[in-house]
Amino acid sequence: MILKRLTLYQFRNYDNETVDFHEGINFITGKNAQGKTNILESVYYASYGKSFRNNKDNQLIRAGDEKCYFSLEYSHDYGSSIIEVKLLQENKKEIRINYQPIKKTSEILGEFLAVIFSPDDLKIIKEGPVLRRRFLDREISQISRNYYHYLIQYQRVLEVRNNYLKKHSEATCDSIYLETINEQLIENGMKVMMKRMAFVEDLNGIIEGIHHEISEEKEVLKIQYVSPIIKQKIRDYDKMKEVYKGLLDSKLSVDLKNNYTAIGPHRDEINIFINDKDLKIYGSQGQIRTATLSLVIGVMKITHEVMGEKPLLLLDDVFSELDDDRKNKLLEYVKEYQTFITSTDLAGIDFDKISNFQIFDIEEGKIRRRSFQ
Ligand SMILES: Nc1ncnc2c1ncn2[C@@H]1O[C@H](COP(=O)(O)OP(=O)(O)O)[C@@H](O)[C@H]1O
Ligand SMILES: [Mg+2]
Repeated sequence: MILKRLTLYQFRNYDNETVDFHEGINFITGKNAQGKTNILESVYYASYGKSFRNNKDNQLIRAGDEKCYFSLEYSHDYGSSIIEVKLLQENKKEIRINYQPIKKTSEILGEFLAVIFSPDDLKIIKEGPVLRRRFLDREISQISRNYYHYLIQYQRVLEVRNNYLKKHSEATCDSIYLETINEQLIENGMKVMMKRMAFVEDLNGIIEGIHHEISEEKEVLKIQYVSPIIKQKIRDYDKMKEVYKGLLDSKLSVDLKNNYTAIGPHRDEINIFINDKDLKIYGSQGQIRTATLSLVIGVMKITHEVMGEKPLLLLDDVFSELDDDRKNKLLEYVKEYQTFITSTDLAGIDFDKISNFQIFDIEEGKIRRRSFQ
């Protein structure tokens, strides 16, 4: 996909800007707090239906204004499309795809494809499992609306179960009612886990090679999905279901005590290893950075493969963190995708080696295309 034109109206610190992008690499540069990341935020919104910064929609409206609007005109294998987003102060939003309003935000998934890498993503490896699960969920949702559906269903049933656990003790709990809840939980939970496992497997097949190339080291990067429901090598659907059910039953008294369901995809782990060592424990800053980058590029390749369209690559502020060699190596890697790179500093980039690029200077919410480079 190629983002041709972006319009921002009262979006964050933008008044009314329209910009035409290059089909190759777009460097977005400027001092701090000028609006560089805001541009990526609007672009990513169109692919995910919400901000990657996890803010409330009304924070995207320029302070003091009642509404904001942004639109993306883009081309893909079958022609061209436009996505328009209008956000109102009362947390209402209207999204239109090719001038047709959509009813549910999830309808946006899979329409416009973008993969993002921001400094916050470094936490995916370093911090707790919540962010790793969220990373998987976000990326799988983009390539499978079904997945998103099952995930939401799972979360709903889980909430019902947890509420029931809160209100009851072993003496008062109705085992037949709980059985029906468990069945729904298992049904949706299994779908979520199977998809996650398949995705992690695909990712594993891809990241090793990418990581070798980017890190220029003989490091082996691996990712692993860990769940008590998956017993070692057993990947059989029915067997997993049995284990799942058994665990829910055997943990029931603990769950009733804690008012919380201890087992399920909402508690599973995703481990990331370099040379068989757990990165979150043993990884250096540099290793974590390149590993995250490898993961993101891996996700991009899978998205491309599954959807049959090239996603956009959005790299927020990662350049300042890389040495010159790695910067240029990365550019070499991404040049077949339309890429957006924000950075305060373009020093060290070998512009002679990349022919397909454009530089945009950002200052206080104004975007200027640099005419000679
Ligand atoms: N809702 C908003 N209304 C007006 N200005 C905003 C809003 N949200 C963020 N900003 C402004 O946007 C700027 C930060 O933009 P950002 O894209 O994060 O900067 P950077 O160029 O460092 O990436 C700051 O000046 C901030 O005050
Ligand atoms: Mg920024």
